[in-house]
Amino acid sequence: MPVQSNCVHREDCLKGLARIEPASVDLAFADPPFNIGYKYDVYDDRKGYDKYLEWSSEWMQAVSKTLKPDGTFWVAIGDEYAAELKLILQNDCGLVCRSWVVWYYTFGVNCKYKFSRSHVHLFHFVKDAKNFTFNHDDIRVPSARQLVYGDKRAQSNGRLPDDTWILRPQDLPEGFQPDDDTWFFSRVCGTFKERQGWHGCQMPEQLLGRIIKACSNEGEMVLDPFTGSGTTLAAAKKLGRKFIGFEMSADYAKYARKRLGNINPGDPLDGSEDAVASAPSTSKGRRLKDVRPKIAKPNSQEQLRFDLA
Ligand SMILES: C[S@@+](CC[C@H](N)C(=O)[O-])C[C@H]1O[C@@H](n2cnc3c(N)ncnc32)[C@H](O)[C@@H]1O
Repeated sequence: MPVQSNCVHREDCLKGLARIEPASVDLAFADPPFNIGYKYDVYDDRKGYDKYLEWSSEWMQAVSKTLKPDGTFWVAIGDEYAAELKLILQNDCGLVCRSWVVWYYTFGVNCKYKFSRSHVHLFHFVKDAKNFTFNHDDIRVPSARQLVYGDKRAQSNGRLPDDTWILRPQDLPEGFQPDDDTWFFSRVCGTFKERQGWHGCQMPEQLLGRIIKACSNEGEMVLDPFTGSGTTLAAAKKLGRKFIGFEMSADYAKYARKRLGNINPGDPLDGSEDAVASAPSTSKGRRLKDVRPKIAKPNSQEQLRFDLA
């Protein structure tokens, strides 16, 4: 049976992906389980090393087959398997890496005997190195020349990238640029208004919004094999894209459908576009004007996938 679009399918993605017409998807974004023992309601996040890689190769090849010849595939992954998954994407799937983006997030859990985890790897792969969508005009931001120095020579339409280590956001007064390959978005914390509250791995809509705006056009098809709380699909719907999602948990699928039911195309993305200059609204409506000098304490009760392992 062909896969209906604009739906979350409660299904193992391997089964669902096999039903998608080959070469029909413009953009796929996958945030798979990281195999670090995170507690999902149904999925067991502790496979053996070989088993996890075998399974990863299987689903990534299945996603690749659904991509159009000019299609794009983003994969989010933690440190533990980043190197292995990148090689699988290149070698088993035959894709080409355009960018290795680091998403730097705040509000991670403080660690005692290692540096606190504050990043996720985001691999940006394309099927054809010469033919892919990258709408750089849709993700441009004001440059430091414009914002900080008021320099008349600044390009009026902003700027693009960098490749830098940033230890603390307050050390970088000019902020992170959305088109740099080190990105700064706060994790979606328990107190944030954006937080759905029933899935601990919810990604920020602004992060997905950037990927979807850059790598697809209105009316095109966006696929997420691991829907979770539905962030990819929510951002896709708001940005006027078609979407398909798979989720093996009946509860997560149900709640993600509910989330999508409350969204209309054209709705603004949740969260602040400039995470350095403003903090997200909390569920109580509080909004900080500038978070740079403040150091927030994470909620130690909350189990965070990004900080396990
Ligand atoms: C890391 S979460 C995705 C979070 C998502 N990016 C968000 O913003 O909410 C991974 C999800 O994949 C689901 N999952 C795991 N294995 C799956 C499979 N084989 N097919 C479909 N879903 C699966 C889990 O239930 C979990 O909800």
